[in-house]
Amino acid sequence: MMCGIFGCILKNGDAAPIIHAALKRLEYRGYDSVGEVTIHEGKLFIKKDQGKIDEVHAIHNLDDLPGRIGIGHTRWATHGAPYEVNAHPHTDCNGQIAVVHNGIIENFSELKKELEERGHVFRSKTDTEVISHIIEEELKEGRALAEAVYSAVEQLEGSYAIAVVSAKEPNKIVCARKESPLVVGVAENAVYFASDIPAFLPLTNTAVIVEDGELVVLDDKGYEIRKLADGSLVSRKPEVIDWSPEMAEKKGYPHFMLKEIHEQPLCLRNTLRLQEQYLDLMTTFLDRAGEVFLVACGTSYHACLAASYMFSKLSMLATHPIIASEFVEQHGRAINIDSVLLAVSQSGETADTLEAVECARQRAATVLGLTNIIGSTLTRVARAYVCQQSGPEIGVAATKTFTSQLSVLSQLALRLAKKRGKVSHVEIEQLEEKLEQIPDIVEKVIETQEEKIKQLAKKYRDKQCFFFLGRGVSSASALEGRLKLLEIAYAPALAFPAGESKHGPISLIEPGFPVIFVCPKDDTRKTIVGNIMEMKARGASIIAVVEEGDEEVKGLADDYIEIPRGMPEVLSPIPYVIPQQLFAYYMAVERNCDPDQPRNLAKSVTVK
Ligand code: AGP
Repeated sequence: MMCGIFGCILKNGDAAPIIHAALKRLEYRGYDSVGEVTIHEGKLFIKKDQGKIDEVHAIHNLDDLPGRIGIGHTRWATHGAPYEVNAHPHTDCNGQIAVVHNGIIENFSELKKELEERGHVFRSKTDTEVISHIIEEELKEGRALAEAVYSAVEQLEGSYAIAVVSAKEPNKIVCARKESPLVVGVAENAVYFASDIPAFLPLTNTAVIVEDGELVVLDDKGYEIRKLADGSLVSRKPEVIDWSPEMAEKKGYPHFMLKEIHEQPLCLRNTLRLQEQYLDLMTTFLDRAGEVFLVACGTSYHACLAASYMFSKLSMLATHPIIASEFVEQHGRAINIDSVLLAVSQSGETADTLEAVECARQRAATVLGLTNIIGSTLTRVARAYVCQQSGPEIGVAATKTFTSQLSVLSQLALRLAKKRGKVSHVEIEQLEEKLEQIPDIVEKVIETQEEKIKQLAKKYRDKQCFFFLGRGVSSASALEGRLKLLEIAYAPALAFPAGESKHGPISLIEPGFPVIFVCPKDDTRKTIVGNIMEMKARGASIIAVVEEGDEEVKGLADDYIEIPRGMPEVLSPIPYVIPQQLFAYYMAVERNCDPDQPRNLAKSVTVK
């Protein structure tokens, strides 16, 4: 989903070195395998393999391919482990067509079955390969390449930015995009396309943004854009990009963390395109479990904590969220063959989590995994796993991977509820509908609240300590908001279920002490209003993340952030964490901390 694609048509000279260098500039988009194809004298020349770009170059010499036209790909595996056979480009049966793709084809299984029944032979496990065989079929009908791509993408469901070359029309590259990004670069003696501007910025700063639902034909005359909906020509002026290459990697955002916060709607849409069979397999294991442990560290643990409310409220399944580094001490002797341990780890390499997994395996328990990296240790030791498809997360602080984890876990809870018949069909449909709306809701929260949150960070910048409080599933959101603030803005903060305040922590409260309340309008709201009052009575400054139009809580708060109405309780952590992510980010900026590389922290803690 977060792969990088690039290609070029040069007036003269070799395309391969240009492609190789451009893929290096896209490496932050994915790097578990890489490939290139050029066209020369009517033939395709391909080099591809698993491994980082430099590793593959050292073995295959990616600069050594003939021809002035070519396309390339650097991969972030979502379907099919990062092996050579799954690396892009993917070709048709006769090696006459080559395709690179960034995105997720949801209906690839049924397309693949149809194509195999027509005699097509597939080499890879990827969703992408169906595209090259569909285009092969279209060309057989006598269509030109552009028309063939046009009718091929009409059959695709999901997200894609693709580029296609064919030996039959060796002077053309045809691209098309739906949701995944695509941009054209225009130079004196060349035309380029890429997933992101950084790929060609050193070659030209004249870019043409390709909009959703458009097809582009690149040739020696330049580029032509058409609408996929009706084939109509689009005339779009190039724009001059005044970003530095470093800025361009962040799409113009000042930090990767802010870019990744803003990427969440796209990631959440892709998390709704998971392969059904993986979700069903996980659900089956969870359904049969004698007991279920949800094991993780840090942000991933907060996802497990939220999930425990989802599984309990939706599926009537009691689960035990456990901090991984405590698992062996706490449950190492209790876990057994009837247990299921679901390990949640963005990196799939966290030592504490893998230690808990190893303990579970030794006790013959069933180990399941939820991770963002196919090919990570967790995917190799788990009995079954789901890849959340969030793409590389460069910021050390987990943001988009957290909300994607919550989306996957809520889908598992929903499936289990359906399987167990514990929730009415009406309620299931309502929740599924809401889940589909979540990406747009998150987009709206970011669009409408970001500026206000930026001001809040200025207002509270010098506060020395914060509370983050919530009840029910919001206690998990509050824990996550607290972790974000303390890990990137180095602001001391405490988070605990709001009901605990009176059992000790409230002794810290004095006038002006900032308390963030996460309070959607759910079953816990009545009691949380009481918690707000007890803090207010002691002079605390109340910052509330509330449902739009909740006049009662807004009236009690010194500041508030509004989330669109009608968010089901079990899904509320996803939108309600967004303002907390943004607050932590802007506090870090206000305090001159580096949000992308906070001190003392690593992206993946592979030591115990
Ligand atoms: C979260 O912002 C931190 N980067 C950290 O707590 C992280 O969530 C934790 O180390 C777990 O990482 P994992 O998901 O890769 O296992």
